Amino acid sequence: MTAELANAFIDEHTVDDTLFERIARDLEQQGYSIQPGALPAPLVATLMEHQRNIDAAQFFNAGTGRGLDYAQNELVRTDEICWITGTSAAGQQWLDWASRLQVYLNRRLFLGLFSFESHFAHYAPGDFYRKHYDAFKGEANRQLSIVVYLNPGWSVGDGGELVLYRNDQDPEGIKVTPLLGSIVTFLSEDFPHEVLPAKRDRYSIAGWFRVNTSVAERVDPPR
Ligand code: OGA
Ligand code: MN
Repeated sequence: MTAELANAFIDEHTVDDTLFERIARDLEQQGYSIQPGALPAPLVATLMEHQRNIDAAQFFNAGTGRGLDYAQNELVRTDEICWITGTSAAGQQWLDWASRLQVYLNRRLFLGLFSFESHFAHYAPGDFYRKHYDAFKGEANRQLSIVVYLNPGWSVGDGGELVLYRNDQDPEGIKVTPLLGSIVTFLSEDFPHEVLPAKRDRYSIAGWFRVNTSVAERVDPPR
């Protein structure tokens, strides 16, 4: 490695670690973290361009549940999703970044995060995702949720906010504008949340870090 390359490598990772530390501290103190515009700019640009170029055929209506439980439930959510498998360079760059976050949080908070699954999501005007939990206490192994936004220039009247409720009794929650590069993380079992209908196309990535719940006879698939 040349000195120049080594410096570029160190810089990139120092930047990441500063951000990862802010996220870790928030998670430790309040169980969630909102970091406006914090995703590194080159990664944001790559993801935004990639998402806009994904063939519409690769998106499918998001149902809730998995496997045999999978049901398209238009009362709950109406967005379209495309799983990120790492077959594209952009997808792989995202997975690499998420993996560095995973390693950092495991070291810092002993979360035991074991695997990661994520998808692009497209909400057309009027689409929504009603109040839900990403995981249920005791049964699920989704531990930490992450959402990043890929919308340049979002304004107040555009709607489409994520509303993160601190608990079931929280009447108003925290509204997050889905603005380019913003990162939201929260403990999956602890924060009900919803996506309000937007007036324009809304692009994001949603992901979940999971703990390993495999037992001898039942291997738990990554998704
Ligand atoms: C989800 C979700 C939030 C958002 O996909 O489970 O809650 O702001 N997404 O897109
Ligand atoms: Mn969710």
